[in-house]
Amino acid sequence: MSSYEFIDHTYDVVVVGAGGAGLRATLGMAEQGLKTACVTKVFPTRSHTVAAQGGIAASLGNMDVGTEINDHWQWHLYDTVKGSDWLGDTDAMEYLVREAPKAVYELDHYGVPFSRTEDGKIYQRPFGGHTTQYGEGPPVQRTCAAADRTGHAILHTLYGQSLKNNAEFYIEYFATDLIMSEDGRCQGVMAWKLDDGTLHRFNAKMVVLATGGYGRAFFSATSAHTCTGDGGGMVARQGLPLQDMEFVQFHPTGIYGSGCLITEGARGEGGYLTNSEGERFMERYAPTYKDLASRDVVSRCMTIEIREGRGIGPEKDHIHLHLNHLPPETLALRLPGISESARIFAGVDLTKEPVPVIPTVHYNMGGIPTNYWGEVLDPTAKDHNRILPGLMAVGEAGCASVHGANRLGSNSLIDLVVFGRAAAIRAGEIIDPKTPNAPLNQKSVDQAIARFDGLRHANGSISTADLRLEMQKTMQRDAAVFRTDKTLQEGVKEMTDIAKKIADVKVIDRSLIWNSDLMETLELTNLMPNAMATIVSAEARKESRGAHAHEDYPDRDDKNWRKHTLARVKDEKVKLSYRDVHLEPLTKHEDGGIDLKKIAPKERVY
Ligand code: FUM
Repeated sequence: MSSYEFIDHTYDVVVVGAGGAGLRATLGMAEQGLKTACVTKVFPTRSHTVAAQGGIAASLGNMDVGTEINDHWQWHLYDTVKGSDWLGDTDAMEYLVREAPKAVYELDHYGVPFSRTEDGKIYQRPFGGHTTQYGEGPPVQRTCAAADRTGHAILHTLYGQSLKNNAEFYIEYFATDLIMSEDGRCQGVMAWKLDDGTLHRFNAKMVVLATGGYGRAFFSATSAHTCTGDGGGMVARQGLPLQDMEFVQFHPTGIYGSGCLITEGARGEGGYLTNSEGERFMERYAPTYKDLASRDVVSRCMTIEIREGRGIGPEKDHIHLHLNHLPPETLALRLPGISESARIFAGVDLTKEPVPVIPTVHYNMGGIPTNYWGEVLDPTAKDHNRILPGLMAVGEAGCASVHGANRLGSNSLIDLVVFGRAAAIRAGEIIDPKTPNAPLNQKSVDQAIARFDGLRHANGSISTADLRLEMQKTMQRDAAVFRTDKTLQEGVKEMTDIAKKIADVKVIDRSLIWNSDLMETLELTNLMPNAMATIVSAEARKESRGAHAHEDYPDRDDKNWRKHTLARVKDEKVKLSYRDVHLEPLTKHEDGGIDLKKIAPKERVY
């Protein structure tokens, strides 16, 4: 093994990742005077949150003036519970929707340039699955937007505020592994500085994983190429479980061919889908909410239309999204970003013609199990709620679980800021800045460096790019919008063979400076456990729920399957177990909480 020197750093908190959740956590920690570092493999404002378009959900009620509607957190809770297909944890979901308005007004005060109503309030638009009167009333305008560049606006603001509060940024540093004490406490991370090849040991009282999702385990995704599930990979290597990984969201409107996102805000502003017969087919499937049904529902309906021969184009393999009936001024004001994307990626002028779209992998409901403070849990431990000291996970990397089997559009940005903020509140309570950091466990450091060095000198017979492609194509085909026992069993078998090939990977570039070959190999070792957990968990779940549409078991089965999946991954082997859904809310009905009868399971129709 080569010998390596380290540069050492000591902090109260190290946040890994600088997307919306990572920056909100970083800012919250730094504001309280905790010595905080943010380690990120890309420049903060290039993190994938920058691609979030349509908006952030909170029951502000800004658009209700002059209507019968008076939006309320309890309606938002109902919609989130129903959206999750009754798999989300009630306590975490209540925390999310109750804190949402506060978290959005904080963003406003930090300087996020939200779009405005005539009277200067934050503009809100309709989004799929967000309704009134516990699903009995019309759609609600709950999604706060900065045109169709909401994520972009949030990232820039949070980065500026974090700098103002003296958070320190380690930019283009790739975190390779967690450093753990002998007694299972997280002590820090190992990181590789990409531009000069140096290795860094970060010692922290708290590590916050905010590394985003693993969309790039699939062939076609709206996710950036950087979305490689690095946090999940790091956690899996420590023998800890990943939760609910079978639930992968397909966004209905990825641009056909490129996968680039066309926001659901497009349908919120009045856009609609048609098939090859020019029919607005969503009226048949979801008579009440039509194109604004929840994402899993719309994606399935589009797939059925294509499968039944009513797709568009020579191969009848996509659907049209129409916005050309909207006034050009509305497109320019509310949807400028997607107007540009449609022109660049589909050659379409949205004011004149429809854009070809197809359901595209967009979001991972599963992730690292946490409580609603972001503290990582090991629910497979004897004590089911064992908190793993020194480790938090927030944003798409974590699973609190507020999205259950399916996330509502615009509940992601609010998840990022509410739980990034919650992690900071909790860390402020448990970290004592005056206590010195414990020395790092050398054995754990040695393990991390041995893995790094092994991959750097990997001399097998398959390139990282070829192996990644095999994984992506298998996941795309076998963990698709619709799944069957046959496709899932084949997927498990193929993915097991693919995962074994990691041992035979070949890295050609042995240098340490800007070595994208090595970096992509490290990323592949993170994608792989996420992919394995996904396909094995999906194969085991014999029901249909949310994004997991199983054709051999088309109904939801609450008696046997209203439970969270836990997957421990070691190399190509996955061990599954389950834990109960939290049914208790934070606030009892008699103390002003929701009436549990309102959110009791029932058929999920839109
Ligand atoms: O469609 C969108 O703008 C995506 C939003 C989301 O995933 O929450």
